[in-house]
Amino acid sequence: MQLRDKFGRKISYLRLAITDRCNLRCQYCMPAQGINIVDRKDLLSYKEMYRIIRVLSELGVDKVRLTGGEPFVRRDFVNFLESLSFNDKLQEINITTNGALISNHIEKLEELNINAINLSIDSLQKEKFAKITRRDVYENVFDTLLKLEKSKLKLKLNIVVQSGFNTDEIIDFVELSKEKDIAVRFIEEMPFNGKGQRAMEEVWDFNKIINLIKDNYKDIENVFSKKTSTSRNYKIPNYKGTFGIIPAFTRTICNDCNRIRITATGMFKNCLFDGGVFNVRDFIRNGASDEELKQLFISTVHHKPENGFVAEASRDNDVSESMSTIGG
Ligand code: GTP
Ligand code: 5AD
Ligand code: SF4
Repeated sequence: MQLRDKFGRKISYLRLAITDRCNLRCQYCMPAQGINIVDRKDLLSYKEMYRIIRVLSELGVDKVRLTGGEPFVRRDFVNFLESLSFNDKLQEINITTNGALISNHIEKLEELNINAINLSIDSLQKEKFAKITRRDVYENVFDTLLKLEKSKLKLKLNIVVQSGFNTDEIIDFVELSKEKDIAVRFIEEMPFNGKGQRAMEEVWDFNKIINLIKDNYKDIENVFSKKTSTSRNYKIPNYKGTFGIIPAFTRTICNDCNRIRITATGMFKNCLFDGGVFNVRDFIRNGASDEELKQLFISTVHHKPENGFVAEASRDNDVSESMSTIGG
């Protein structure tokens, strides 16, 4: 059995938020005081998450990305990863993290065959890093970066391009790929900032970012990527790593979307830009059987919108949600 939507797209990738809590306060994600976090009892339990993943994996989902908030702030997250490693239908278990809490877990993650880590890192400068994250974790994150680079885990760096903050570092980030075999990825900033009210001086979209890079290098090679990839990828000849741009807000990637999302409270989303279709947690807590859950997933996925523009219309353009609650 393979989940498909009405456009024939194969849905094989689940993004699951482990928690809405985070140890940082990134300005593009939430206001300085943080967001209103939910009661612990309203978060999916690990047992519920395990079951959701098992049921979805029986419907053809073979890639799971665990996000947050920050997944490593939730107690016993590593034990949860261990339990997931016994699900042999999963081909990839990946994690998106801010990296501040994980440098001691890297060997364990390798042992558990975690496939890849996407590390958020928005500046290479200590003071600016603190300004963006509103926390003093620069050393921890860079320690994690160096350890991950030496590990067998695949590593992608996520840089949210923020007008007036880090656009002067775009080339420094591309230069990181010279000696390091990593994927550096620039992300268009989206307005999911929990009413952080960020006024952007300039719009830094895909074209503006790639043009800036083209102005700085004579040659840029295209790098083949899977059509379901969020990023368009490139390489400077002879550099060890690659760089890419994620058109997260201009949404030119929707045609090949293979994703569904479940938030930390169990809200099922067919698209990053939809407000949520139903709450899986409530169905589970009301006694739904595996078969009932499967039918629910099949019928919901069928209605996955064609693209993020369609989905957005259904949420009244309410962009007050924080990425920390959505799960990225
Ligand atoms: P891979 O599994 O390695 O392809 O990772 P990813 O790029 O999908 O995940 P990651 O958590 O690193 O997210 C990077 C950025 O891409 C974040 O800003 C996400 O919000 C954004 N993103 C992820 N999936 C989608 C999507 O389906 N649509 C849009 N518009 N943005 C997305
Ligand atoms: N716009 C774009 N990307 C964002 N992220 C968090 N908030 C935003 C936003 N407003 C990114 C984080 C992380 C990923 C899950 O989403 O940097 O890497
Ligand atoms: Fe936390 Fe990630 Fe949001 Fe930053 S972007 S505050 S690291 S959830």
